[in-house]
Amino acid sequence: MVVDAEALVIRKRLEQSLKELPPLPTAVAKVLDETNKTEPDLHRIDEIISGDQALASKVLRIVNSAYYGLSRQVTSVGQAVMILGIQQVRTITLSVGSIAAFSSKNPVDPEGARRFWEHSFATAAACQTIGHKLGVDKKSLETLSTIGILHDIGRMFIFCNFKSVYDKMVQKALKQGVSYEEIEAHFLGDNHAGIGAMIAEKWGLPEQIVHSIRWHEGPFEPTVDRALATLHLADWMHKHLYYGDDKAPVGGIDPVIYEALGLSDEVLEQIQEQVRKKVAEASQLYGMVAA
Ligand SMILES: [Fe+2]
Ligand SMILES: [Fe+2]
Repeated sequence: MVVDAEALVIRKRLEQSLKELPPLPTAVAKVLDETNKTEPDLHRIDEIISGDQALASKVLRIVNSAYYGLSRQVTSVGQAVMILGIQQVRTITLSVGSIAAFSSKNPVDPEGARRFWEHSFATAAACQTIGHKLGVDKKSLETLSTIGILHDIGRMFIFCNFKSVYDKMVQKALKQGVSYEEIEAHFLGDNHAGIGAMIAEKWGLPEQIVHSIRWHEGPFEPTVDRALATLHLADWMHKHLYYGDDKAPVGGIDPVIYEALGLSDEVLEQIQEQVRKKVAEASQLYGMVAA
């Protein structure tokens, strides 16, 4: 596709928006700083989140949702950190924070935002299910959940800041039958994965998260790491189950991914079943932070 004048104008606007990227809310940035330390202080994290009432209540609503399926009501942030772990609480905080940052300048279309949340949390659930099947350790499971939730942060950014461009790109992709990522690269100079990685880097997210966001749409080498392969499969599964056919062009999956993970068809079926179950729970989450 030839880069036309329209694309050049959009690219310039995008460049500017990225330069002016709103910072994360102060409490969220502090949580990130603390959790990036070699030995994060649990009480300090509790203190920071609890110090921001609006943030704390949103985090608690999410933690107590059906999605996390905890057997008892969690009433304090400290308890949430103890039960879910630091990384999980950090991810929830970041999700809430990115919505707040993106919507600080523009009002967000609630239905679109709800769909993003559903996709992000469903992908995270699929990541965890795949991780379980692969027998990865607890820390890796937590990382998988984080990259699942944050992988499409670039798309969310485009959606919030360039809504009319976003709609146009979706229409174009549908009409021309090409991948959405190709259309993004044409208009924006990079796809949402690249843009998401830039945002993650600017916000100071850890390198592994930046890397997974950057490459989650491929291309993949046979040496692809397991976390990235898991994320791609999880992402594809939710897209394939819910956005396939006439809604958006969802291609097949790179065989390299299957080879890297080595899961049987039977196990893949079981994972799909789990993802189906989790979607309804994931879809309720946005309502809990939108207020
Ligand atoms: Fe994506
Ligand atoms: Fe995705």
